[in-house]
Amino acid sequence: MGLQAKSMHGVWVSRWTFILAATGSAVGLGNMWKFPYVAGSFGGGAFVFVYLLCVFLIGVPVMMAEVLIGRSGRQSPINAMRHAVTVSGAAQHWRCVGWLGVTAGLIILSFYAVIAGWALDYVVQMARGNLIGADGEVAAGLFAELTNNPLRLIVWQTAFLALCMVVVVRGVRKGVGTAVEILMPLLFVMLLGMLVFAVFKGDFSAAWQFLFRFDASSLTWRAILEAMGLAFFTLSIGMGAIMAYGAYMPANASIGQTVLVVALFDSLVAIISGLIIFSIVFATPGIEPSAGPGLMFISLPVAFGNMPGGLLVGAVFFILVVIAAWSSAISLLEPAVAWLMEAQNYSRLKANVVLVAAVWVLGLGTVLSFNVGRDATIAGFTFFDALDFLTANIILPLGGLAISLFTGFAMRKAIIEEQIPELKGAWMTAWRAVLCYVAPFAITCIFVMGIYDKFFL
Ligand code: PFF
Repeated sequence: MGLQAKSMHGVWVSRWTFILAATGSAVGLGNMWKFPYVAGSFGGGAFVFVYLLCVFLIGVPVMMAEVLIGRSGRQSPINAMRHAVTVSGAAQHWRCVGWLGVTAGLIILSFYAVIAGWALDYVVQMARGNLIGADGEVAAGLFAELTNNPLRLIVWQTAFLALCMVVVVRGVRKGVGTAVEILMPLLFVMLLGMLVFAVFKGDFSAAWQFLFRFDASSLTWRAILEAMGLAFFTLSIGMGAIMAYGAYMPANASIGQTVLVVALFDSLVAIISGLIIFSIVFATPGIEPSAGPGLMFISLPVAFGNMPGGLLVGAVFFILVVIAAWSSAISLLEPAVAWLMEAQNYSRLKANVVLVAAVWVLGLGTVLSFNVGRDATIAGFTFFDALDFLTANIILPLGGLAISLFTGFAMRKAIIEEQIPELKGAWMTAWRAVLCYVAPFAITCIFVMGIYDKFFL
């Protein structure tokens, strides 16, 4: 087998399409919904600091490894890992990384579609003016009305999955490539518009203080585990989505530079979203920054409902969230679609239908965990909490650990040199040291202490 495989799915037209697609995958509900409420729950500044450390010290090197494996294999993560393992003459068990990743992607998509469905519902609620003059109680009531209604949740979940399918079914260039070339610039313009609104109409300095004031006392091991899990989740790493996109990256693009741009965009959007949300929340009396998952769907709509022009801005904001979620969700679906096409000879359409149907059924568990199945918990986790914790805090860090160790120790050097010829001397030594020692040590340590803190303290 040659070192560089050929792709049956096509390749992006340019490095920029890859950057837009990877940023589209990275920037999503994780940045706009999860980052603000988790940072809020864990006290702000110190958490944000650890999050950024994880993004740049662990996330960027691991993401480079993923793109490298993907581009060298030019196939779905499962087959790209197989290619890398075979060409390197490494132990076959490394191949489970691809399987774990593709499975995790489908699990994430199952709950992601439900939450993205909430955002779709809120676009309509905002546009209809349901939240004009609403206080916290009214907004909480409207949110409960939505989450207590399984049918309404299923309608939106289905609509969102249909949106994903429409894109992925068209293929790599025409579908995913075209979608991100339209959606991502739109997303950035809308985000900057929202930021200007937040600076002039919100309490920007309070938001800044909250996100950047370093208070070490809030840094428990649990908080550090959450920060690392969130870094992996928001970067879409540890599970093959970026590996799948790497398979479509032009051969001459520099992996290191490209990945750095994606990580910069990703963390910038998380921070800007945090600044927008907290500016608006702090400008509205009686709302807590640590409101949890409801921060975006309860606290924020109250703020919008009570501002001049707030409903229009609110509708734009939730459209923005939907776009971010959409461009991420397609990267959760694409790896499995590519694999079914390669391994089972399925057409793109058939692969999409089969997978979306399976994801839809699994998503019903999340739908029900907000209403009739609310009390069905294991170790305090509802079905949704369990899937969220399992994927972000367990599978993604473990996937990242395995990818680091594989690339650091087991992968043939010739593949690495072929894929990142620009990484030379001290940079190459530093990158390998991170993959071999720093990332594995940090991930293991944070993982063990975080789990201990969560379950045994
Ligand atoms: N990065 C996405 C977000 O922040 O919302 C979520 C995600 C997408 C995670 C794709 C993992 C993935 F493979």
